[in-house]
Amino acid sequence: MEKPAIQSEKIYITKSIEFSAAHYYYLEDLSKDENFKIFGKCSNKNSHGHNYILHVTLKGEASIKTGMIINLIDLKEILKDKIIKVFDHKNLNLDTPYFSEILPTTEYLTHVIWGILNPELSNKLAKVTIFEEEDFYCYYKGEVNMYYLTRVYKFSASHRLHNVCMKEDENILIFGKCNNATFHGHNFKLEVTLKGNIDNKTGMLINIINMDRIINEQIINLLDHKNLNTDVDDLKNTITTGENLVRFIWDKLYGLFYPAELHRLKLFETDRNYFEYYGG
Ligand code: NI
Repeated sequence: MEKPAIQSEKIYITKSIEFSAAHYYYLEDLSKDENFKIFGKCSNKNSHGHNYILHVTLKGEASIKTGMIINLIDLKEILKDKIIKVFDHKNLNLDTPYFSEILPTTEYLTHVIWGILNPELSNKLAKVTIFEEEDFYCYYKGEVNMYYLTRVYKFSASHRLHNVCMKEDENILIFGKCNNATFHGHNFKLEVTLKGNIDNKTGMLINIINMDRIINEQIINLLDHKNLNTDVDDLKNTITTGENLVRFIWDKLYGLFYPAELHRLKLFETDRNYFEYYGG
């Protein structure tokens, strides 16, 4: 039997590191009030800080000699020298040279780190992801002005899986416990990923204060602490499966983030099952 040609496959490897840094968002040509209106608490010029988690993803072929895309010992040294030394326990605005023109947003930070690391990694860099917080991360793949930003939201709701066109015993057979006539519930988790350009002054794909407002108005207020079968008019004729819910949420949100574009929804019904939708 012929051996599979693994040497020509592209394999991905990701290494993550953490650095702690301070930053603030403030545009000097605007007043303090105007800055607060746009950036909220982040406009405090005394700065605030985050434990940033950086995921560096490389793509390549495993070397015949070492079996590796890159030696992790070398990668660790590069990250220590080029990232940790520059950003850890620093103020991004005041201690680094990268943010004099554009604010130190998570989006722009992925671009800066891509620019630092790509020449060091023989063009094997595939993706730079930064988690600013557990519920907010961005990634950049080296595409011209294309950034991906994800926010995580939660809502708790009850539902039952039931098809009114089917008989009781068939519903029980297909949906089992999920067909319980008095409902059951979940802590749903919704990841919303937007993509697009970043503003060349604010460094933002979208102001997340606005993103949160839109999602709270459209989704969280509608679904949180509700019965999905009985409290939500638009779902009354829908079997409230994860598949149908993720498409329902997509339809509610699509087009509302302009000029950013909805890229992906990931809906966790529990920690062990989730549904993803890219719009078709
Ligand atoms: Ni911040």
